Amino acid sequence: MLDLHCHILPGLDDGAGSLEIALEMAAMAADSGVTHIFATPHCNTRNAQKNYRSDELIAAYRSLQAALDEAEIPVKILSGAEVLARGRFAEHLAAGDFMTLNGSRYLLVEFYFDEDPLSMEQALSEAAAAGLVPVVAHPERYFCVQNAPELAQRWAERGWVLQLNKESLLGGLGDRAFDTAALLLRRGAVSVIASDAHDFRWRTPHMGGLLEILERRFPEADPGLLLYETPLKIARDEAL
Ligand SMILES: [Fe+2]
Repeated sequence: MLDLHCHILPGLDDGAGSLEIALEMAAMAADSGVTHIFATPHCNTRNAQKNYRSDELIAAYRSLQAALDEAEIPVKILSGAEVLARGRFAEHLAAGDFMTLNGSRYLLVEFYFDEDPLSMEQALSEAAAAGLVPVVAHPERYFCVQNAPELAQRWAERGWVLQLNKESLLGGLGDRAFDTAALLLRRGAVSVIASDAHDFRWRTPHMGGLLEILERRFPEADPGLLLYETPLKIARDEAL
């Protein structure tokens, strides 16, 4: 499996707080069958978590990979960021400041949970106009999508990619997130499921429970497509 969304780069956001934690997360992911992790630190936030494209950020992916190789943990780190659509989003897009997923056309975008649908649509359109394909991080967590899931369905129909959090399907993010995730998944609007892991205790990169619940409650969903083929195409910058 390839994990498209994971806060594993140590010390850059509210994810892994140290290299030891990052290694623990990677080992846990590998144990559950993950071979590649897109390291997607928060980016463009209001606080210190800027994480725009920089030599330092590129060095951070490389040094985590070196530590994994040294520890003989069989996981490849792919570059990325989870870009919060706020502030001077369009200007940063134009300047190429955001790290796309493994350098591809795909950009992982998140919003404030209470963001209004028009602003979301505008930001996603701006990313598309900049030649990128937006990947909407955890649509099931936004209040407006919970109130009207067809909003996210329309995004999917426009060719934008919906990424569910595994934790939503496991019930860890509340009933509304679960119900919305389940509905979008059953309607075939979802392209990818990822961990959005922040640590190895609460929001973990272990994919075991997810596979079990997909099999038991969502037999119509294709785990091979959601967890392997589609993220692989994204990593290779192929059209979906
Ligand atoms: Fe995230």
